[in-house]
Amino acid sequence: MSIRRLPEHLVNRIAAGEVVERPASALKELVENSIDAGAQRISISLSEGGLSSIDVADDGCGMAPDEIALAMERHATSKLPDDAIESVSTLGFRGEALPSIGSVADLTIESRVRGADGWYRRIDHGVLAGEGPAALPPGTRIRVSNLFAKVPARRKFLRSARSEYAACVDVIKRLAMARPDIGFSLEHDGRRAILVAPDERRPERVAALTDRGLAENSVIVDFRREAVSLSGVAGLPTFNRGVPDHQYLFVNGRPVKDRLLIGALRAAYQDLLARDRHPLVALFVELPGDQVDVNVHPAKTEVRFRDPGLVRGMIVGGLRAALDEAGHRSAQRPSAAALGNWQSGGGQPMPPSPPAIPNGFAFPAAAREAGQGSVWDRVADFSPAPMARAEPAHAAPPETRAYPMGVARGQVAATYIVAEAEDGLVIVDQHAAHERLVLERMRRAMADGGVARQALLLPEVVELDENACDRLEARIGELTEMGLELERFGPRAMLVRASPAMLGQGDVQGLVTDLGDELAAYDEALSLRERLDHVAATMACHGSVRAGRTLSVAEMNALLREMEITPHSGQCNHGRPTYVELKLADIERLFGRR
Ligand SMILES: Nc1ncnc2c1ncn2[C@@H]1O[C@H](COP(=O)(O)OP(=O)(O)OP(=O)(O)O)[C@@H](O)[C@H]1O
Ligand SMILES: [Mg+2]
Repeated sequence: MSIRRLPEHLVNRIAAGEVVERPASALKELVENSIDAGAQRISISLSEGGLSSIDVADDGCGMAPDEIALAMERHATSKLPDDAIESVSTLGFRGEALPSIGSVADLTIESRVRGADGWYRRIDHGVLAGEGPAALPPGTRIRVSNLFAKVPARRKFLRSARSEYAACVDVIKRLAMARPDIGFSLEHDGRRAILVAPDERRPERVAALTDRGLAENSVIVDFRREAVSLSGVAGLPTFNRGVPDHQYLFVNGRPVKDRLLIGALRAAYQDLLARDRHPLVALFVELPGDQVDVNVHPAKTEVRFRDPGLVRGMIVGGLRAALDEAGHRSAQRPSAAALGNWQSGGGQPMPPSPPAIPNGFAFPAAAREAGQGSVWDRVADFSPAPMARAEPAHAAPPETRAYPMGVARGQVAATYIVAEAEDGLVIVDQHAAHERLVLERMRRAMADGGVARQALLLPEVVELDENACDRLEARIGELTEMGLELERFGPRAMLVRASPAMLGQGDVQGLVTDLGDELAAYDEALSLRERLDHVAATMACHGSVRAGRTLSVAEMNALLREMEITPHSGQCNHGRPTYVELKLADIERLFGRR
């Protein structure tokens, strides 16, 4: 491998832009270089989230002294020997990364080719600061310190060490998933955060870097169409998360954040997951180099496919096939036809177009004003699933007159409560309604000095990654006020002693995992109180009244009664309606009685 200066015509074809914007992007470039150098083991050590130093050592091919000097020049690379940007198989190809980093930090390269002596070269913010012999094992070690120290305009955009560290961990996880054949170790401020051995199998590698529960809760994807292949690990829909951060996507071994791929993933899981839940997935797309352009983004995190339809179709089809095979039949997609069938009572279908029943369903004015979620979405959601349960009619029907939300008559699809009101029918989305009630209850409780806690019979240990534990630990005081009593339990676990009483016998594991994820998205300056609706929504999600849970008539009526006395209960925390109504007069109209 020898480094050359790229000719002008090639330089001009390279996607220009910012290569290094934070410690994680510098780290990504260094580790990618180690991978390209054929390393089998890559050891990374960071201090203060990479803000004060980043150190990457590999056992790859190394560089001779003259190559080290060349590597620091712009547009000098060993990876484009024949001008064919289209068919690069290495992660790098521009010859941009090292000089970019060297211009905004203090950078030292030490390198040694097997059988030769080592050499070092130090560049401080673009200026040569020293070079000479160095003692090191064959391979390369690069140290970057004080990133942006002399570029205050850039330094001020950096986040706290904790957030920068989290971004670094994400970079390493992705690269380590892409290359299970390589061993990676990551240390942060002297503590080991990641250690994976070389020559691992991919599913084990993905599980080690994400969630050890993934193995039992996922399917292996392995699918090929023409020259394109799709492989990886896809979490079962039941193994979902509250944020989309656990979707690892790769194209030809390169971690990408590609909108086409993310969209395809969403489509594949669409009917299997609630709108606000996300799967845990690591998917690897491999296709011939001439069918994908990797040279479209300065940080190389996006790609362009020659045939996007083929790739999208494969992901949707391949994932669906794998999930279906696992015995998790996908739910029927709700459609306008569902409405038509229902309206007609199975006889001659009426045209399913919305205007067929003008003003048929009324929903709360507040939600209508919010402009989100048309009533037709809600009606379409009412798929003609069989009644999950209908109470036998032996008891005297309760008086409906006293209750605006009516009296529960049954539940549909374990998700919707059907109630009879004095002048018609009310259908409640039990989960959306409960989420709203939890938020309102939390608001009241917080105003009164805190949310009531319920001690767990046995404290529960929840295993999480270290960053999530750090984030939760930093918020322990606030979470206690919200009814969740946590304690740090070793580097990668939290101990839960009590949960908010209002959630009933909810899912504590899921709640803590989601909160840990979600805190990553919160600005550290914001208090949880300011984010109360998010926290409440997350809590409600893991409370006992979920979509898909069969409720007793008493539970259903209790929910209806609480909705009647709770302000804003007509819309969920996202502005969608929590219930719809069909007036008796409209029912009569449906049957042609009016
Ligand atoms: N860890 C390493 N081991 C061996 N050689 C390296 C290492 N890091 C860099 N090099 C050499 O230095 C050259 C320049 O690296 P640099 O990252 O700046 O550019 P690149 O990898 O060629 O392209 P890109 O800018 O897309 O990353 C590489 O082409 C490679 O030959
Ligand atoms: Mg590079």
